[in-house]
Amino acid sequence: MSKFALAERVASLPPYLFAAIDKAKAEVAAQGVDIISLGIGDPDLPTPEFIIDALYEAAKKPANHQYPSYVGMLQFREAVAAWYERRFGVKGLEPKNEVITLIGSKEGIGHFPWAFINPGDLALICPPCYPVYATGVKFAGGEVMELPLLEENNYLPDLEALDEATWKRAKIIFVNYPGNPTASTATTEFYAKLVEKAKATDTIVVSDLAYSEIYYDPANKPPSVLQVPGAKDVAIEFHSLSKTYNMTGWRIAMAVGNAELVNALGKIKENVDSGAFNAVQEAGIAALQQGEPFVEKARAIYKERRDATCEALAAAGIEHQVPDASVFVWAKVPGNKTSAEFVTDLLKKTGVVVTPGSGFGECGEGYFRISLTVDTDRLKEAVSRISQL
Ligand code: MLT
Repeated sequence: MSKFALAERVASLPPYLFAAIDKAKAEVAAQGVDIISLGIGDPDLPTPEFIIDALYEAAKKPANHQYPSYVGMLQFREAVAAWYERRFGVKGLEPKNEVITLIGSKEGIGHFPWAFINPGDLALICPPCYPVYATGVKFAGGEVMELPLLEENNYLPDLEALDEATWKRAKIIFVNYPGNPTASTATTEFYAKLVEKAKATDTIVVSDLAYSEIYYDPANKPPSVLQVPGAKDVAIEFHSLSKTYNMTGWRIAMAVGNAELVNALGKIKENVDSGAFNAVQEAGIAALQQGEPFVEKARAIYKERRDATCEALAAAGIEHQVPDASVFVWAKVPGNKTSAEFVTDLLKKTGVVVTPGSGFGECGEGYFRISLTVDTDRLKEAVSRISQL
């Protein structure tokens, strides 16, 4: 027994999903097994060269070697506002008060509840979902209530399932489309209903839009919640350069939306971090301004991977959703195993790493998630190994 008792908030935490997967993967890899890693949503494609060149130039400027601004470079925030207008038609985002730079969207999402959740306050999450929403709320002493996403509802939450009093108690609702892990998408009609409910009950809408740029049908691009008129009264949206420009390692992201919400997050960040490296923000500006042709190519690559994977899964009789967006395929565990049993067996017997649905909440039980983050041949090989398990 350690002489240092962990704080309850840490002692009660389950192992972080992706850290646990990394550990299990390393153990199997150490036995010489050929690992195919479809666990974390970490793009294998390199960051486009022009972004690296922009970083190199920016890293040479002595001014960038000093502390950055807490809330981010104004030029980066201006580039974000301009990108939101170009991509979503969201006009007039005020870079100074309605945009903040983050050191990755996980950081911002994890910190945001500290600004609004008092001990005992309620937040709504929609599992299966990214574990960080609940952890951020619990770290702040809040209580989490689940609005489960079910296949029969196209993985959209049933906003009418909660009574008025519960909605009024809820300070925050977290939504994430294109969804991780389900890869489901939302429409502006859904967002409009959500915003209406949130306005009527003074609930903050936190939208996580990290996967919006990896879509497979250009006629059907995933929308932003901020496209809904009046959404800025209640919403803050987290977005990231990680998945769009293959920049997960760079830790650069943004939150945009209601000025009070953005500024409150800024206040937390002022006290716990010192901002994102300016050179990374300058590279981020280049990405936002010139990145589209590169994202276009990445989309074509993901589409080929998605098609090959879904065809192989279908041929193997493994039920799955063909995703319209994101880098994930959400599939049903074949046979009678639990998600965790299946994933563990799969790794040990075949070297294929996938993520158990139950790692995203109890209602993910019976499913597993594939990340399309290796090339098409390896994906086909992975499905072939899955089908032989
Ligand atoms: C995932 O695989 O769910 C994500 O890549 C994790 C993350 O973005 O932190």
